[in-house]
Parts: sequence; structure tokens; C-alpha cells
Amino acid sequence: MRNVTIENVTDVVIGSLGKNGEITERNREILSALVRHLHEFCKEVNLQHYEFLGACDFLARAGHVCDDKRQEFILLGDILGVEVLVDMLTNRVEGTESESTVIGPFYRENPPVLPKGASTVQKHFDDEETVYFEGHVRDADGSPLAGVIIDVWEDAPNGLYENHDPDQPDYNLRGRFITDDNGHYAFRAVRPVPYPIPDNETAGELLRAMGHHPNRPGHMHFILSKDGYRPLVSQIYDSTSAWLDDDSVFAVKESLVGEFKPAGDDLDTDLHVEFDFTLKREVAAVAAE
Ligand code: BEZ
Ligand code: FE
Repeated sequence: MRNVTIENVTDVVIGSLGKNGEITERNREILSALVRHLHEFCKEVNLQHYEFLGACDFLARAGHVCDDKRQEFILLGDILGVEVLVDMLTNRVEGTESESTVIGPFYRENPPVLPKGASTVQKHFDDEETVYFEGHVRDADGSPLAGVIIDVWEDAPNGLYENHDPDQPDYNLRGRFITDDNGHYAFRAVRPVPYPIPDNETAGELLRAMGHHPNRPGHMHFILSKDGYRPLVSQIYDSTSAWLDDDSVFAVKESLVGEFKPAGDDLDTDLHVEFDFTLKREVAAVAAE
């Protein structure tokens, strides 16, 4: 093809897929759609060459910001609502299972394994409010699920996750808990506070270009896993938090908003949150029965 035109270039590029080598059906589907939408986008906004170069420079700078502590592309996807959309497509809610939401960039694998009821707090802050989190994990029939692994992580009262704050101990405010025979989990932590997502690099540039703020409402992160069940990546939001209705990454779901109530005399924390989860069977596990 020697005569590409504005009219035929999309078909020409899609026609090149698989011409000189194997291509999987999924790659064909994804790449065809990508080319179609990208070309349509360029035409819709009449993209100019200096803007194309600006976008390439922006993406190159985003890549340079990435290291083992910062994943700038997840942040960019979050700011554009892409991570929450992909999460909803991946984990479509079809029954009574708990809703998922974004994992974000701050999860660390292999947090300390702690006994039921233990605290994730390794460093205290003057303004912290301690919280007793507890609840039950059940399957869709309401049966308790024992042995569910629950990873939790949150920011400190200064708004920073421990791996972004040199003054916090390693794995502060992170832990792994296991549900007991009644499907019950419990742990002590602190009230999560609102915080701005990292906005000093390209993520900040994008937010400013959008005229949007970087703030997230206070939330506790969870990942629940058990063989035979779909892993649940989710968050519990503080019902009194700022930014609940204007999250910079669009990840709040009504069903994930929890009440941080004053704790009763039987507890040694300031606050008490009760929150139950329902897990969904893996399709393969159901089919194998
Ligand atoms: C978080 O909740 O940790 C998070 C999610 C998306 C972007 C940045 C942070
Ligand atoms: Fe977070």
C-alpha cells in the first residue's frame, strides 16, 4: 500500500495484522479495536503533530518515574477512571458477592501474618484514632468461610503509606489475617485518613490538565483469598470522610461505605467497624462439582 489516506489508513493498519506472522485471536481483537479507536480519537480532536510529540514525551517521562515503589501508569489509569472500569468488567457483580474496587499502587505482597485481633500499628501518631475492624466472610449461600486469607493495608494518620514515608517502620499498618471456623476476622488498626495520590510528576500534570484534585476519601484496603473462590480486592470507606463523593480515582461504591462507630467499653480502641464480605465461587470450582 503506497497511498495511505485519512480515509483508508485505519483499514490498512488493521489489514496488516497477522500478515507476516501468527497472531492470537485475542491480540487481533484487541489490536483492531485499539487502532480503530486511536484513529477515531485523532480524527475527532484533529490531533496535531506537536500534540502527538507532547503525548510521547509525557509517556516517556511517566515511564522514567516508575520504580519498585511507584507505578505511574496505574496512577494515570486511575485518574482517567480506567482502573475502576477494568475492575468492574473483570469482576462483574452477578449475585450477592461483595463489590470489588481498585487495588491502587500501594499494595505490598507478603505482609506480616498476624493472629486474629492483633494490631497492624507499629508506630503511633498523636492524632491517631484506633479502630477495631471485624466481620464475617461468607459464601453466596451465607455459609461461613473459614481459612480466608485477608491482607489489609492503609495510610497512616499523616496521609502516607509506609513505603512512601521513611519515618514509618517497614510494613507499618499492613497485615495478613485468617478467618476462624466461624468465618470471623478481626484486627486493630487506625482510622484511615483522606490523602492525595502522588501528584508531583506526570500524574499531577494530568490532574491539572483535567482541572481535578488528587484527593481520596479515607479507606482501608482488603484482599480476600481462598482456594475455589474469586479473590476479592476491595476497600472499606469511612462514611464521614471528605471526598467520598468526589474521589480522584472514582473508586467509591455505596456498598463499601462503612460506619466508624464509637467503640463500646468491651473494646480498647476508639472506634469500631463491623463489615461483612461475601465471596463468589470460581467458575472452575463450580464446574468441577
Ligand atoms: C489507593 O487507594 O491506594 C489508590 C488507588 C488509586 C490510585 C492511587 C491510590
Ligand atoms: Fe489507598
